[in-house]
Amino acid sequence: MSDEVKFMLPESAIPTQWVNLLADLGPPPNPPLHPATQQPLGPEDLAPIFPMALIEQEVSGEPEIAIPDEVRDVYRLWRPTPLYRARRLERTLDTPAHIYYKYEGVSPAGSHKPNTAVAQAFYNQQEGVRKLATETGAGQWGSALALACQLFGLECEVFMVGVSYDQKPYRRAMIETWGGTVHRSPSELTDAGRSQAEHTSGSLGIAISEAVEVAASNEDTNYSLGSVLNHVCLHQTVIGQESIAQLELAGEYPDVVVGCVGGGSNFAGLAYPFIRANLREDRSTRFIAAEPAACPTLTRGAFRYDFGDTVGLTPLMPMYTLGHDFVPPPVHAGGLRYHGDAPSLSALVKEGLVEPKAVAQTAAFEAAVRFARCEGIIPGPEPAHAIRAVFDEAEAAKEAGEERVILFNLSGHGHFDMSAYSAYFAGELEDLEMPEDELASALDRLPEAPALA
Ligand SMILES: Cc1ncc(COP(=O)(O)O)c(C=O)c1O
Repeated sequence: MSDEVKFMLPESAIPTQWVNLLADLGPPPNPPLHPATQQPLGPEDLAPIFPMALIEQEVSGEPEIAIPDEVRDVYRLWRPTPLYRARRLERTLDTPAHIYYKYEGVSPAGSHKPNTAVAQAFYNQQEGVRKLATETGAGQWGSALALACQLFGLECEVFMVGVSYDQKPYRRAMIETWGGTVHRSPSELTDAGRSQAEHTSGSLGIAISEAVEVAASNEDTNYSLGSVLNHVCLHQTVIGQESIAQLELAGEYPDVVVGCVGGGSNFAGLAYPFIRANLREDRSTRFIAAEPAACPTLTRGAFRYDFGDTVGLTPLMPMYTLGHDFVPPPVHAGGLRYHGDAPSLSALVKEGLVEPKAVAQTAAFEAAVRFARCEGIIPGPEPAHAIRAVFDEAEAAKEAGEERVILFNLSGHGHFDMSAYSAYFAGELEDLEMPEDELASALDRLPEAPALA
């Protein structure tokens, strides 16, 4: 075992392919359904808003998919990202556990999101698309896509969840710096936005409806999603593949892998290559998906068909959901305020391969501050939830007296979230739990759809 703290790979070690875990899981028992006919979705149903290359990736049964040279060339701006051993944190927690973190905050946008934004912009440009429309929560995804569109010569139009638009003016400015246009959602620009005007704080579900509407009604515009879909999770698997190589340098292999979950993409990116190793090589790593207690999709949601957006324009997807019209409370981890989760991750949770865990926001910030004081990096509020779960695992290792290896995804830094840290220090952060009756009534409004197998 090495005594280093930073494990770096050369540019030549940027992965040449993405890992498609779906090939190992077999054909999905519950295909996505057309929102109107409720028949299984065909490629032609998605063609108005996605390029064919991404539609093919969405349903691919190939175990690996080659990363185009043009995409790898852009990845070289920040990849491979560093893997750190958190030795100071281990000492502070007084744990025998070895804690490693993969740091995705070194990308120009400050998070893992450009890993897929770059790929999506590339494939759209190849197929002659002029503009991409999208939603963004905290602004991480919108800024990543604006950057990627700029690099591939596309226009970018972003619908930003109202509460984040107000809380995070600098993320708006980043989108504009990279040439994108940003609107506060719900907006007056779309039917979907006008129909949701009373939800002034907005939600990812509403912003998605607005962006899908713009893409579907403009010939030269496609839609781009920053999480949830198979092709998005696929593009993020560069994270896990690099981590495997870096842990080899450290002479270790994880007993536990932890990630936070909004729609599931950074978790999938880190975990899926390791889950494949569990399935193929008889490894027995545990996987923990940390979500906010205020938006408890995996821990308290229903496993059902539901729309990906509020208005009901997207396909019906088999997933854990809080109901497509659920408007999560305005917690500071804007990127985790989504009513659903990736169908692939939902299936893994259902099968018991991934353990979900709900984390309260004050506990997340407390952990993030302790982490920053040991390791220096100020985490985004989203990965703060993963850090809280890591603390619990480190404590469990201490109680068991075992040198467990814990790996987590530090999916982004918190430099644009300092108002949330100020609120935490001022004692103004609330722990908002979703009341049982509110959950029940949101689930009552789930669409009529076939039961899941
Ligand atoms: C830094 C960061 N981490 C995590 C997330 C959650 O998204 P996902 O579950 O797709 O990784 C976001 C979403 O915006 C984010 O910005």
